[in-house]
Amino acid sequence: MDYREIIGLVHSTRPMILNGSQSLEVTKKGPADFVTQVDFMVQDYIAGELKKQYPDVQIMSEEKENRGIDFSKPVWILDPIDGTTNLVHNFHHSAVSLAFYNGKELEFGIIYNPYSEETFYAIANQGCYLNDERIFVSNTTLLKDSLVMVGTASYYKEMGGNIFADIFEIYMQCQDVRRTGSAALDLAYVACGRVEGFFERSLKPWDIAAGMLLVKEAGGKVSSFEGKELFLDRNNDIVAGNKEIHEKLLEIIMRR
Ligand code: 2AM
Ligand code: CA
Repeated sequence: MDYREIIGLVHSTRPMILNGSQSLEVTKKGPADFVTQVDFMVQDYIAGELKKQYPDVQIMSEEKENRGIDFSKPVWILDPIDGTTNLVHNFHHSAVSLAFYNGKELEFGIIYNPYSEETFYAIANQGCYLNDERIFVSNTTLLKDSLVMVGTASYYKEMGGNIFADIFEIYMQCQDVRRTGSAALDLAYVACGRVEGFFERSLKPWDIAAGMLLVKEAGGKVSSFEGKELFLDRNNDIVAGNKEIHEKLLEIIMRR
């Protein structure tokens, strides 16, 4: 696997995203769940190139049918645009997220923010990088000194009461909370230590696959709300952080 080539491929979507977001046609998939022609353009381009170069690797991607993916064999896991609501609002905080699962484990992950031109990537057992510099999770151990990224799973408004109850509990004990609209970038920010932790319910595999490897390779932890492992073939409630803050967030969430 030529990781440099994959990073180059992801970078080459920048003009598509920056120019495309000038004139958007938006399709609603559900409440607060959108897709634009930019999502499709980026997906078709990356998936097309991957298919050419790696014809035997399956592709799982948000805006296509993914039935029949066999996780005992290699899979690309792609979110062409993570943070589509941000894209629609020209908020300049969205990313391309691509992970490679080799049939046994996540082997490579990249999260690219074309606005800030920040490239977060990780290779299994070889560390996590931001624009080619090694990055690590924050070493802040106290929740009261921690910034915590939260997600609101806004497409499931019926869960809003519970979600905000978790957020309230954590907000009262940490320094402050942030909500950005891109789970991929939230995990990347945990990996580089800009925030100490992150949690959100019911995320899809493509929202978190690359970010899971990033956090792990940066020395942090990711798990379900029960402290168990996450799965790439279903929705997950995810808690991430440096090891201490991950543990503390988990305690609060499980107590509720
Ligand atoms: P997206 O921008 O690729 O749709 C924000 O809370 C996070 O939730 C984003 O990463 C967003 O990804 C994701 N998201 C949006 N709709 C979703 C859905 N129906 N199920 C799970 N995750 C979703
Ligand atoms: Ca998406």
